[in-house]
Amino acid sequence: MSQDLETVACHVADGIAWVRFNRPDKRNAMSPALNRTMMEVLDSLEFRDDVGVLVLSGEGTAWSAGMDLKEYFRETETQGLGGVRRAQREAYGWWRRLRWYQKPTIAMVNGWCFGGGYGPLFACDLAFAADEAMFGLSEINWGILPGGGATKVAVELMPFRKAMYHALMGEPIDGKTAAEWGLVNESLPLAALEERVRTVAHTLLGKNPVALKATKDAVRRVALMPYDEAEDYLVRAQEAANSFDSQGRQEGIRQFIDEKSYKPGLGAYDK
Ligand code: ACO
Repeated sequence: MSQDLETVACHVADGIAWVRFNRPDKRNAMSPALNRTMMEVLDSLEFRDDVGVLVLSGEGTAWSAGMDLKEYFRETETQGLGGVRRAQREAYGWWRRLRWYQKPTIAMVNGWCFGGGYGPLFACDLAFAADEAMFGLSEINWGILPGGGATKVAVELMPFRKAMYHALMGEPIDGKTAAEWGLVNESLPLAALEERVRTVAHTLLGKNPVALKATKDAVRRVALMPYDEAEDYLVRAQEAANSFDSQGRQEGIRQFIDEKSYKPGLGAYDK
């Protein structure tokens, strides 16, 4: 299946949905039209049996140059508060949807990533960047604070001093620095980026999908909980996961203890 919508391109191959921001001429800036399309694309892919992992990337030289300063800010502001709030709902809505997506998600940051781009960057469970990519909280450079969640993303992912420097200075950093500062898992040459992401995606495809969803949600949820609440949440989350998949863990134990066909410390059981 391949969809080439005006602002978002997408195709599914080998269990992976490759979704790409598709406004290369505008450096994949997020316009209201793009935000609406992205929600539709996420909707159409989320529960498909042939999709196990979603990769979010960008066409051309950008991942995303953030919000579209003309279409998202200037034009919606002429529509008054109702227009502004609608545009915010559309943007924040698909980022939230992505944060709690049914399938594991990977940001493949191929180029520019600014401001509002940090919303979907954080929404993706894992992130890999090209060394050549450039990241920036550029809001300060045009006179606003990093809104739309961007400041929150910075303090969630980076140590305090780095987050503060990044937000106040408006200096872009490259992929390597973004990896050192915690914005992405790894940075590697652009030419090697897709292959690395494909390898990670295939490893995820080999795991129990119910356990993957429970785990990705747990990592996000427990970050905000005190220890005892986290412990309780995790017990209940595992029990809830069992109600969707009661066989998986028994099979995982059986293949290790009885069959001795794999070692859980070193890889996944055979689904
Ligand atoms: N909003 C609207 N249009 C944009 C945006 C954007 N965020 N980013 C790029 N474009 C447009 C440009 O206006 C230009 O349009 P035109 O061809 O009609 O003149 C086209 O995309 C190409 O942009 P260039 O600046 O020529 O591309 P270049 O590769 O030289 O530079 C860069 C790329 C560094 C990303 C530059 O475009 C830029 O600084 N963009 C703005 C980044 C930014 O600060 N985004 C907002 C973050 S804050 C927030 O999201 C809330």
